[in-house]
Amino acid sequence: MTPWPLPLWVAHRGAGKLAPENTLAAFRLGASFGYRAFECDVKLSSDGVPFLLHDTTLERTTPHRGTAGERPWAELSRLDAGGWHSRQFAGEPLPSLDAVAAYVQRNGFALNIEIKPTPGRERETGLAVGKACTALWQGADSPLLFSSFRPDALQAARESAPHIARALLVDTLWDGWFGVARSLDCVAVVSNFRLMDAALVAQLHGAGLRALSYTVNETEDVRRLLALGIDGLITDVVDRFAPASGKAAD
Ligand code: G3P
Ligand code: MG
Repeated sequence: MTPWPLPLWVAHRGAGKLAPENTLAAFRLGASFGYRAFECDVKLSSDGVPFLLHDTTLERTTPHRGTAGERPWAELSRLDAGGWHSRQFAGEPLPSLDAVAAYVQRNGFALNIEIKPTPGRERETGLAVGKACTALWQGADSPLLFSSFRPDALQAARESAPHIARALLVDTLWDGWFGVARSLDCVAVVSNFRLMDAALVAQLHGAGLRALSYTVNETEDVRRLLALGIDGLITDVVDRFAPASGKAAD
């Protein structure tokens, strides 16, 4: 298998649910628990700026409504993406991909960018994220992995950033998923943890692909996946699992 850039433990959306997801405050909290790798969701503003947000719409994680990707970055960058979570994070902004790149590179952290396009903008988003990361990570040695549920977004990222490693995300084992992962020259498949079993790990490892799972929050699931030989665990509960040990905490 090709060299693998990520440590075993990856903090989901920065610090899971302990801080407002996909903010720099979350990354800082995840890092305070010993995490050295972070997953985040990236999409585009209306004027093409890559920024962090999970949902297509704003209402769950900001005081505003409507499709985030229909607003320009000058507007999005002023929204409060922390107050919904708790008072201590009020005023925390939506981060641009540029800001996150600066943070992880300065600290030597690994980043798993989940390309999460606004529906209908899959190719545009993959192309733009690939182009942005090619420039942002030039000369940087902090590890970077793209992932997406959308093969069209991964294909576009491959066109603009062929050198950046890719992983296919799967929530179900849909017809043709394995062939798609291979045809996209993926280095890994990241599955819903419930799908991962010995047969799937063997299939992936047999093809030279790494096997990762999300979102693994229970100790018994961590133990089961470690016994299978899992290569990466994306978790919300950064205060429960200790990344340095590579073991499930009690
Ligand atoms: O990248 C793994 C995981 O984040 C995928 O699901 O919905 O949390 O983005 P979601
Ligand atoms: Mg995600």
